[in-house]
Amino acid sequence: MSTDYTFLKACWGEPTDYVPVWLMRQAGRYLKEYKEVRAQGGGTFLDLCKDPARAAEVTIQPIDILGADAAILFSDILTPIEPMGMELDFVPGPVFENPVRTAADIDALKVPEDMAQAVPYVPEIIKRLRVAFEGRVPLIGFGGAPFTLACYMVEGKGSKDFASLKQMMYGDFPLYDALMKKVTEMDRRYLNMQIEAGAQAIQIFDTWGGLVAPHDFERYVLPYVKELIGGLNREGIPIIYFVKGGGTMLELVKEAGSDVIGLDWHVNLGKARDILGEDVAVQGNLDPTVLYAPQDYIEKEVQRILDENAGRPGFIFNLGHGILPTVPRENAIHMVECVHRLSGK
Ligand code: CP3
Repeated sequence: MSTDYTFLKACWGEPTDYVPVWLMRQAGRYLKEYKEVRAQGGGTFLDLCKDPARAAEVTIQPIDILGADAAILFSDILTPIEPMGMELDFVPGPVFENPVRTAADIDALKVPEDMAQAVPYVPEIIKRLRVAFEGRVPLIGFGGAPFTLACYMVEGKGSKDFASLKQMMYGDFPLYDALMKKVTEMDRRYLNMQIEAGAQAIQIFDTWGGLVAPHDFERYVLPYVKELIGGLNREGIPIIYFVKGGGTMLELVKEAGSDVIGLDWHVNLGKARDILGEDVAVQGNLDPTVLYAPQDYIEKEVQRILDENAGRPGFIFNLGHGILPTVPRENAIHMVECVHRLSGK
């Protein structure tokens, strides 16, 4: 009864018996079980992403351990950039040895016709997980938003301000636009491939989309993500768009056209919902560092967010960004338990 999942109902804005919850980056280093599987064979993080058996195993761990209401495919937003012709490494943050800076670099980028062939391990993991999870939890596929992917491709690594990307964006718009069009098309094919393989919802991570001012978001970020979402085979598949730092430009974030908007913790969830209106669901937005607080404090914070939502349908509880690697696992388990208990499960 895959359409009956509480998480999917909430994505569609339908009433649910309780508030569903999952955690961004819920498979990861705060779990010793993850670290064990990650260490098997002495391989790298990328080796783990490319090993369907182990990647499926770490996707399942937070469902068993936390009791989360949705699973998210184990991979990384940057894995589909490799077949575009860029060499990717994790140290543990992502690094591209050959960032794209010139017209020749961008010309040389490939946009694979068949993403299932370009990253065969991704559909393989999805298929295994659908079998493992049937009747239990739905599976979320994901990708980076074009802007966030371009940040890493141009900069070559993480950064506070992504100056190289900004230089291209402000200084040579045609070059920036050419890059963004290629990334958007790759992303469209990549996410449609995940849907075809069996992903039951798609989350688009725009981790750096909030770095720009609202008018720049409108010009440099929004057109591409709108094009991306508009090009997805989204019939029956809810699309979640998470923009870290998007709270000051919610109307623009909504224009991208997703079914669910992911909120970080810099906004009051209730006020954000007032602005967004009733025709879109929201997901969020506990400050990830609250998971370092005592358990009774965590419970009060969960209650505060539930109160802000005030029983409105179309709500998925989550952190406002990814769970941090040093968070005590008992606190993550406690948070999920609080959301369920306090919302009536
Ligand atoms: O949510 C999940 O459990 C699914 C797995 C997932 C990973 N990365 C695994 C990962 C997801 C959804 C991502 C998305 C991702 N990757 C984003 C968007 C979300 C966000 O957090 O903003 C971004 C920006 C990346 C790029 C990336 N990958 C960074 C910046 C890092 C380093 C992070 C760090 O804390 O060191 C990674 C590596 C990475 N991706 C790890 C995991 C579990 C840690 C690597 C390891 O185990 O050694």
